[in-house]
Amino acid sequence: MQLLKNHSLKDYNTFGVDAKADFFVHVKSISDLKNLLSNPQFTSLPKLFLGGGSNILLCSDFKGLVIHLGLKGIEELGNGLIRIQAGEGWHNFVMWSLEQGYNGIENLSLIPGNVGAAPMQNIGAYGVELRQVFVELEALHISSGKTLVFSNEACLFGYRESIFKNKQKGNYVILSVTLKLQTNGIVNTSYGAISEVLREKGIENPTPIQVSDAIVSIRKSKLPDPVEIGNSGSFFKNPVVSSPDYDHIKKQYPEVPSYPSGEGRVKIPAAWLIEKAGWKGKCFGNYGVHKNQALVLVNYGGARGEDIYQLAQEIQASVKEKFDIHLKMEVNIIP
Ligand code: EPU
Repeated sequence: MQLLKNHSLKDYNTFGVDAKADFFVHVKSISDLKNLLSNPQFTSLPKLFLGGGSNILLCSDFKGLVIHLGLKGIEELGNGLIRIQAGEGWHNFVMWSLEQGYNGIENLSLIPGNVGAAPMQNIGAYGVELRQVFVELEALHISSGKTLVFSNEACLFGYRESIFKNKQKGNYVILSVTLKLQTNGIVNTSYGAISEVLREKGIENPTPIQVSDAIVSIRKSKLPDPVEIGNSGSFFKNPVVSSPDYDHIKKQYPEVPSYPSGEGRVKIPAAWLIEKAGWKGKCFGNYGVHKNQALVLVNYGGARGEDIYQLAQEIQASVKEKFDIHLKMEVNIIP
């Protein structure tokens, strides 16, 4: 384990923000991690655990210890149960599962980040969420050094939510995740664009691999590749509003898209609200709002995290003023 000082985090966050860490270490094993956390040199320092760095915005240099988690390994436990170490890349794991003949997570293809970050916000796309295939995870309790198992119920999953973003925020490091996948080949193509893309390719009864290919092409056409343009995917969550509030907006904008969200509530795409507020494609020097997807803030190179954060706050304020809706940030802001 090598301790690096004043280390740039540019390659460790998909926004590509060039913030620095006072101390940086890459860990490859649980024993390394436990040793590090019990080392008196570091106990009082603020700590930041990084996986793929795909859902954070670093607003300044990190005055503390950044721990880059590199635990690797995939084990088949039988019966479709698979245990994946937290440091495996999510998309690589999806590709591996499809090659082995599994299905269930093909709709989550090309989501950036590591496996260990997936339960943090119950990743989801194209009608599928992690919680549908999630069995349990192992996590290290940072202050006591104990390892605990969290079942699906114990994770309190919600829309881009889990206990690790709320009550237990900052208390645990996720070490491994166990999922249950299927081999029945049943796919979910109900999300509009998927069936359209498959139809264009002349595919009638798609295999999980064909669904994955379709999703990869949809995502590539709409979302910027973080390797080329720094970004963190959806920056805001889609707000859920009451029916009367929705009706009020619909009166003025009959074209407003919406999804029923249970209990008489309605989900409105944040991207639509941001676009209507005039932000889509806006560029401020080296950062801005993506031209194809208004929900994605981008760093064209060399932008500072605090500038992007300020833009996010301005977008929040203008959507609040125009629609009286508060957009919640989905990305973790590291002050
Ligand atoms: N829209 C606009 N303007 C835009 C983009 C979209 O008005 O610039 C409207 C359109 O009406 C469109 C609707 O917004 O039909 C929804 O857009 P889209 O289907 O692209 O999905 P989204 O709601 O923006 C969510 C997730 C994505 C996920 C996609 C696909 C959230 C916050 N985001 O985006 O997740 O990939 O659905 O399922 O729930 C992520 O979390 O980082 C992420 C990319």
